[in-house]
Amino acid sequence: MKNITLIPGDGIGPEIIDSIKTITHHLSIPINWEIYNAGSSFYNSNSKIFEDGLIENISKNKVVLKGPTETPIGNGFKSINVLLRKEFNTFANVRPIKSISGIKTKYENIDLIIVRENTEDLYSGIEYMISKDISQSIKVITREASEKICKYAFETAVKEGRKKVTAVHKANIMKLSDGLFLDSFRKIASMYPQISADEKIVDNMCMQLVINPNQFDVIVAPNLYGDIISDLCAGLIGGLGLSPSANIGDDIRIYEAVHGSAPDIAGQNISNPSAIILSTCMMLFDLGFEKESASIKNALFKTLENSDFHTKDIGGKLNRLEFTNKLISFETVKKSL
Ligand code: NAI
Repeated sequence: MKNITLIPGDGIGPEIIDSIKTITHHLSIPINWEIYNAGSSFYNSNSKIFEDGLIENISKNKVVLKGPTETPIGNGFKSINVLLRKEFNTFANVRPIKSISGIKTKYENIDLIIVRENTEDLYSGIEYMISKDISQSIKVITREASEKICKYAFETAVKEGRKKVTAVHKANIMKLSDGLFLDSFRKIASMYPQISADEKIVDNMCMQLVINPNQFDVIVAPNLYGDIISDLCAGLIGGLGLSPSANIGDDIRIYEAVHGSAPDIAGQNISNPSAIILSTCMMLFDLGFEKESASIKNALFKTLENSDFHTKDIGGKLNRLEFTNKLISFETVKKSL
């Protein structure tokens, strides 16, 4: 039995996590979920942002499946995501973006991997008021983290048989910070002569992604640009309900959907659980449950192939529970095990 820390989170978090429990239970995958509450709703009734014991439990289990957690905008407590990523040094946020058969968008055959630096940049949380009317946020970029993330991106390219890594930056303006990131990228790129190294200024990158996303393969970016282009890329394949991610550390991994707590649809049972299902497949694969991962993916893609089975966010009529039940109704889910 594998113990995994499970954080249901806020908004649609508990709903989509319920789908995961249903699916993994249906397949009898030997997982023992150790559940810890965290986020805005937990804070409102407990005046702390996560349950006692969470950090110790993650240190013990080393694998986390996390629902989205809400962060107050403009005031209030700091992001739990940023806190966990820094606490456990999950330095890489890996976000595969792949077209899905049955999901109609303007684009076809998109297949790229975003590798986002996950611990520094403007997310360092060093922010203060110089005076009543002047604020300052510090952007931290270090050579160590930049080289580490660029190396991870090139290693991912090698492992996945990819041909090109594109670095995203704004070093024409932020000559020192983004300049250091770019310098690190060039140094690491020189160690992988078999992989083509490409550089794009972030504004042009956004335009290129919309005009011709198929030109990209692996994308490596500092934290903020990586965050922004991730949502842009999710839009290219049909939306946030379809985009998974993994926060990778040297010995700890946190798997979660790219999307947030979606307060606008929370409590209505209309969320799309596909993103967290795909994140769970990444987790299962990494844990050695390769057949189970493939089996769930097959059933998910079969469900998504037919527009009669789509959830509302991708133009369909099924609610989250109906979608989940449809997925597990496919004979292939168990037969392929
Ligand atoms: P969001 O990702 O929660 O929602 C953006 C839009 O996408 C909304 O219209 C929402 O309904 C839709 N959407 C997202 N996931 C969906 C799904 N699975 N099925 C159907 N529709 C879906 O972004 P937003 O509204 O900017 O942020 C809400 C909260 O989430 C904020 O407090 C933010 O800090 C937090 N957040 C948390 C993240 C995490 O825990 N990893 C990541 C991003 C945001």
